[in-house]
Amino acid sequence: MNLLTKCAVSAALLTMASASLPNLTAQNANAPRPQGARPQVTVGSQGPMPVHAKFTEQQIENGGTLFLQNCAFCHGKDASGGESGPDLTRSKVVSGDKEGEGIGQVVRNGRLDKGMPRFNLGDSEILSLVAFIHSQQDKAMSQTGNRKGVEESDLHTGNAEAGKKYFETTGGCVKCHSATGDLAKVATRYSGLQLLEQMLYPKQAKATVSVKTASGQTHDGPLEYQDEFHIGMKDSFGMYHSWPASAVTFKVSNPAEQHVEIMSKYTDKDMHDVLAYIQTLK
Ligand code: HEC
Ligand code: HEC
Repeated sequence: MNLLTKCAVSAALLTMASASLPNLTAQNANAPRPQGARPQVTVGSQGPMPVHAKFTEQQIENGGTLFLQNCAFCHGKDASGGESGPDLTRSKVVSGDKEGEGIGQVVRNGRLDKGMPRFNLGDSEILSLVAFIHSQQDKAMSQTGNRKGVEESDLHTGNAEAGKKYFETTGGCVKCHSATGDLAKVATRYSGLQLLEQMLYPKQAKATVSVKTASGQTHDGPLEYQDEFHIGMKDSFGMYHSWPASAVTFKVSNPAEQHVEIMSKYTDKDMHDVLAYIQTLK
């Protein structure tokens, strides 16, 4: 059994995240769609309450996941600022934004010279991010004081020693990885933000599926094809099989999505430390 399958198998044992999460460049059909009606602009603002579009709970929730995956590393999990990105709950861009025109522009174009990368996200994804950021700002504005206001600093603030320890103990990374095995030289394959993205969401990781046929046979292997009506996989002999989705029961597990689950248990500090450590694997 090679490491990848081993990882996939142990990953499958972990609690399964059923939501399908897009990767950074996802324009794909699996991307979560905000549900419900188009946002309506709230009219007639009362007092200091922010005026922005109304978003659905679903959009806010999808946005939270996307934020964790793409933005939390720099802006903090709750958008209130991290070591390398400003507090978005105090941002004028955010308070001036109604339905994504301001935030969307920053996210799409980045501010490369200032350390804000550019993201290639679909409209619905941007809109959910916007929904989440606004909800965080509303929350922050309704609270009194007592928020951290870290303004800026750079990407390399982690402590590699602490990161190594975390990797080997609390983080549980060694259950699936080895610094001298699969992750040896990982920092030569990717660098900077790319490495971070890869760590948070390993896009190349192949989903696996376990199919149980009507006659009770089970087939486990890499998922090769899936749409609403069909499911296709390769067995351990490399043979391709496919079934009408309605004729079998199956469970897909996507290690990339599970990775997001794992990463969501990090504190911001752990994330920075572990990245600093991963950066030493050259
Ligand atoms: C690598 C770190 C990093 C990541 C990842 C990142 N940002 Fe930023 N972001 C920054 C920095 C640094 C700035 C400040 C740029 C400046 O000073 O003009 C910024 C600025 C912003 C601003 C403008 C704030 C203002 O008031 O000017 C918004 C909005 C924003 N980011 C949203 C996001 C979103 C949404 C994501 C995820 C899709 C994201 N950022 C991911 C580092 C990051
Ligand atoms: C349950 C198993 C599992 C755990 C635990 C786990 N990972 Fe992963 N990780 C994977 C899988 C599967 C991939 C995708 C492997 C591939 O396709 O190369 C991956 C990919 C990665 C990559 C990208 C490797 C590459 O070559 O692109 C990095 C970096 C990484 N993980 C870091 C971590 C860190 C840090 C931790 C601990 C906080 C961790 N992982 C915990 C399963 C796991």
